[in-house]
Amino acid sequence: MMTDTPRKLRSRAWFDNAANIDMTALYLERYMNFGLSLEELQSGRPIIGIAQTGSDLSPCNRHHLELAHRVREGIREAGGIAIEFPVHPIQETGKRPTAGLDRNLAYLGLVELLYGYPLDGVVLTIGCDKTTPACLMAAATVNIPAIALSVGPMLNGWFRGERTGSGTIVWKARELLAAGEIDNAGFLKLVASSAPSTGYCNTMGTATTMNSLAEALGMQLPGSAAIPAPYRDRQEISYRTGRRIVEMVHEDLKPSDILTREAFLNAIRVNSAIGGSTNAPIHLNALARHMGVELTVDDWQTHGEEVPLLVNLQPAGEYLGEDYYRAGGVPAVVNQLMGQGLIAEDALTVNGHSIGDNCRGAAILDEAVIRPYGRPLKERAGFRVLRGNLFDSAIMKTSVISEEFRTRYLSNPEDPDAFEGRAVVFDGPEDYHARIDDPALSIDETCVLFMRGAGPIGYPGAAEVVNMRAPDYLLKAGIAALPCIGDGRQSGTSGSPSILNASPEAAAGGGLALLRSGDRVRIDLRAGRVDMLVPDEELTERRNALEAAGGYPYPDHQTPWQEIQRSLVGQLETGAVLEPAVRYRRIAQTKGIP
Ligand code: FES
Ligand code: MG
Repeated sequence: MMTDTPRKLRSRAWFDNAANIDMTALYLERYMNFGLSLEELQSGRPIIGIAQTGSDLSPCNRHHLELAHRVREGIREAGGIAIEFPVHPIQETGKRPTAGLDRNLAYLGLVELLYGYPLDGVVLTIGCDKTTPACLMAAATVNIPAIALSVGPMLNGWFRGERTGSGTIVWKARELLAAGEIDNAGFLKLVASSAPSTGYCNTMGTATTMNSLAEALGMQLPGSAAIPAPYRDRQEISYRTGRRIVEMVHEDLKPSDILTREAFLNAIRVNSAIGGSTNAPIHLNALARHMGVELTVDDWQTHGEEVPLLVNLQPAGEYLGEDYYRAGGVPAVVNQLMGQGLIAEDALTVNGHSIGDNCRGAAILDEAVIRPYGRPLKERAGFRVLRGNLFDSAIMKTSVISEEFRTRYLSNPEDPDAFEGRAVVFDGPEDYHARIDDPALSIDETCVLFMRGAGPIGYPGAAEVVNMRAPDYLLKAGIAALPCIGDGRQSGTSGSPSILNASPEAAAGGGLALLRSGDRVRIDLRAGRVDMLVPDEELTERRNALEAAGGYPYPDHQTPWQEIQRSLVGQLETGAVLEPAVRYRRIAQTKGIP
């Protein structure tokens, strides 16, 4: 709300500081050089940043270059002045060695921009997997008024009358290729069919997950996350987002008012109901740490495990992004959870209203796509946290365990929910690709595949490689999935029931570093344990030998950032943040004007 005597905004320290006319003149003249006028810059109107994540290098977010025009119109009409600037681009599928490396880099860069320039508020243009947490984390650290705007998913992909979803179709195409049912050209055609327009992945991968959770957290306008990128509604919500951020600056509504523990618990429950990505705990735990909110990996099991799956999107289900929007999107899901008392309804959102007020009565418009709470696709769709002598924590999305998998591994009446197997260990994705089809490994259906050297330090940034396909010869024999465990991540578009995000990783001295191919391992989902069945004395000997050899080896740094990030990054369990950055919280308030 506008008051009679508007609060002095932080941009005044740059543009309207009579006590330091030298510097004020220097700040002003350069922003005037492209046509902003003195009266605009000294008017006391909010200066609103548009943190632009779109570019040719990041195609998922590229449509933000268009949407920013409507954002600017909204900002201007509400009395603000827009200043658009680039955020370090992140392209999930194009960045080597992994886009995971760049989340903290984009975060770091955006913190500097939001803190060190004359910005009173910011529109965060979110979309592709890591762009969402990077932007939210930076807004949390600086804590100026911030609103997120999703770029929206691509239109549905189609191939011969069937929906083809981003990423998910790749796992399918790989199986078809390995089984000899398609050739390379057929592979490319099938995969390309899943990307028919601008926007981010149309499956419930990490992008749709994180954009939905940004809305569930209260950081986006209600109903906005699911709007497909090319729809006119997307342009309209961009305009509304621009208008709203100006009001937020006048109201001094900051991330710390919205990103409370209750908001995070709401998001955890929504994540289960949408069938969200296993990357969500990493990113939300990171965001909570930068906000200074207590949140642990155990919160994901405690608050999320029992929530059923309501959204029927690939990879867990059948449909895609357009269907999700048409069926009611995030508000329809939140309303179902509210009916069960699973949402803290008072949690404040960017529109100034509570999530309860925003979502109460939001109807499901297609029950094939979003199920009512009482008729879910799956019960207990959240994550299970596992521990043992291989790692302190790892998570598993038990809801994607297939019937075939359950019958093969989890149907022993003497030992329900548990099985033992022979470990086959790969050291990083290159090792896996080189050896998976080697008959000398004699992999059969009693084996458990391990991927290590794939965590935030080992494969800098943590690679999405834990879900490994079975060898060709098993695929041909009809065995598509073996149990997989690792210290890396897994793409949200994969439907594998892997045990992943294991912390600490092998490269940080975790138990995984001691495992050898041929060891017996026991997985007990009910007890929440994964252990190598190796005597303690033997493990001590192995650890001594490993330490004498200088620890678990990982490849050389290829870039300066790889070296810097490796020396500062934490483990996946606690968000894989740059640990020293966590001390810097709400710096617009705690450190004042730079
Ligand atoms: Fe960018 Fe999926 S690769 S959203
Ligand atoms: Mg990914």
